[in-house]
Parts: sequence; structure tokens; C-alpha cells
Amino acid sequence: MDKERLKGKNVLITGAAQGMGAAIAEDYCAQGAKVCITDVNIDGCKEVEDRIRSAGGEAISCKLDVRKREDHVAAVKATVEAFGSLNVSLNNAGVNKPLWFMDVTEENYDFIFDINVRGAWLGMQEQARQMIKQGKQNEPYKILHVASILSRETFDDVVIYGASKHAVAGLIKGGAKGLAEYGINVNGYGPGVVRTEMWEQLDKELVAMGKFKKHGESMDSIAENMILMKRYSYPEDIVGTASFLASKDSDYMTGQILMIDGGMVIQ
Ligand SMILES: NC(=O)c1ccc[n+]([C@@H]2O[C@H](COP(=O)([O-])OP(=O)(O)OC[C@H]3O[C@@H](n4cnc5c(N)ncnc54)[C@H](O)[C@@H]3O)[C@@H](O)[C@H]2O)c1
Repeated sequence: MDKERLKGKNVLITGAAQGMGAAIAEDYCAQGAKVCITDVNIDGCKEVEDRIRSAGGEAISCKLDVRKREDHVAAVKATVEAFGSLNVSLNNAGVNKPLWFMDVTEENYDFIFDINVRGAWLGMQEQARQMIKQGKQNEPYKILHVASILSRETFDDVVIYGASKHAVAGLIKGGAKGLAEYGINVNGYGPGVVRTEMWEQLDKELVAMGKFKKHGESMDSIAENMILMKRYSYPEDIVGTASFLASKDSDYMTGQILMIDGGMVIQ
């Protein structure tokens, strides 16, 4: 690992108390970045921060509910106060709650869209506001979003989540167009099936809905039948692409989404 690859990058990550966000925060710091770890779960953020500090990295924690503009403003401010500037952000917070198409309710729609879409949009706007204030620099700023295979495909048990991740793809394209003049690149990546708390929960809910018979079957069945590489993934499979998109190696990319799905959706 190049311990200096992300040196000089001051990063804010949302939803980073666990799962992919936490793994990426640790990986970024191991490569020299300084990271503001944010989440609604502040205790989880502090645990990630402790692990980073024990490994010799630099991080702070900040409570942030992505649905609230004032929380984004406060987290950006805390990042700049601690590290001097904001160069990279990763809008990673996201939720899923599967329901068959005819069972979807306004509550389900609002819950998912408020976090996955409104949260990503508000985050991007407030992060960009700070980057614009700092002024255009030689190296572009990077705003990243977590899309999904469900930004390109969808299924009848996760229609609203799929619609929300299609909307995230729209935010990536629109953000790239709206922020290019300020030297801000906007990109994203789309995981397939990643074994995190989100999938553990999803697995239970899919069993309750009758889609699968027993716990754990969903991930194995999808791996066997829908993934070319015949295995689901772990956060470690995702960190490399997230680090590429934060690094100077991706400076000439904007408006793009890279799929990291073992070959689930090929377009
Ligand atoms: N796990 C997968 O298979 C998979 C696949 C494709 C995309 N994704 C996306 O990857 C991202 C990370 O997912 P994960 O699997 O690591 O999930 P996770 O459930 O392990 O972590 C999500 C984090 O988001 C936080 N969060 C929830 N609501 C929030 C809010 N209102 N404000 C701030 N933080 C909030 C949670 O506290 C949690 O720490 C999400 O955007 C998810 O949609 C996941």
C-alpha cells in the first residue's frame, strides 16, 4: 500500500460508523488522508476514529443526519476547522427496506428517498459550497456518491430503493455538469451484493417476505445465480475503487459510475 497516495486529501464521509463507509475511512487514512467520520450513530463514528488513531492515522467524528442541511453545514465546518480545507467527500449513507411493488407505502418511499436522495443532494450542495469558497485548484476537488447495481437495473422487491439509486445516478450526472466550472469532479461507484449490516438486515426481511426460505440463503443464491464471479463481496472488495476515485489517478474523470459487482450488471 502507498501510504502517501491520499496525502493532502481532507475528506468527509457520511454513514461511516460501520459497513463500507467505515472500511473506506480506515483505508483512506492508511493512505495518508485525514477523514471526518460522520453518521447518525456517533458512538460508531468514535469507534472507527479510535481504530484509525491507533493505526497512526488522523480522523475526527461528527454527528450528521444526512436529511438535515444544518448537519451537513456543521460537519463541513468541523472538517475545515480540524484539517484546514475539504478536498474530497463521499456521500455513502444509505438505507434499504424491501417491499413487494404493490405493498409500497408513502412511509417506505419517504424513508428511503429522504436518506438516499435528499441526503446525497444536500451533502453535495454543502460540500460544493465549501469547495467553491476555497477556489479552483490545480487538482480537482472530488465529490463521490454511492450508487448501486440498482442504479442501472432493478427488481420487484426493492423498487423504491432501486428508484432512489437511479436518482443518485442522476445526481452524479447533474452534479458533474453543475460543478465542473468550479473544478469539482463528481463520480460514483455501484456495489452489487456486499456483506454488511445492510445486507444482514435485508436478508432477514427477504425471508419474512417469503422470497427466500432461510437466513443466509439470499446472498448465496444471488452469488450462484446472478454473479459471474460466483461470490458476493465484502467492504474490502470496494475500498480500492473508492480510493482510486479519491486519488489523482482519477483526475480526468467526471460524471461516471464504476460498477463493482463481480459481473452482475453489464452495460
Ligand atoms: N451492502 C450492499 O450490498 C450495497 C450494495 C449497493 C450499494 N450499497 C450502498 O452502500 C452504502 C453503504 O452501505 P452499507 O452496506 O455499508 O450499509 P450499512 O447499513 O452497513 O451502513 C450504512 C450507514 O449509514 C448510516 N445512516 C443511516 N441513516 C442515516 C442518516 N439519516 N444520516 C446519516 N447516516 C445514516 C447508518 O447508521 C450506517 O452506519 C449505502 O449507500 C448503500 O445503499 C450497499
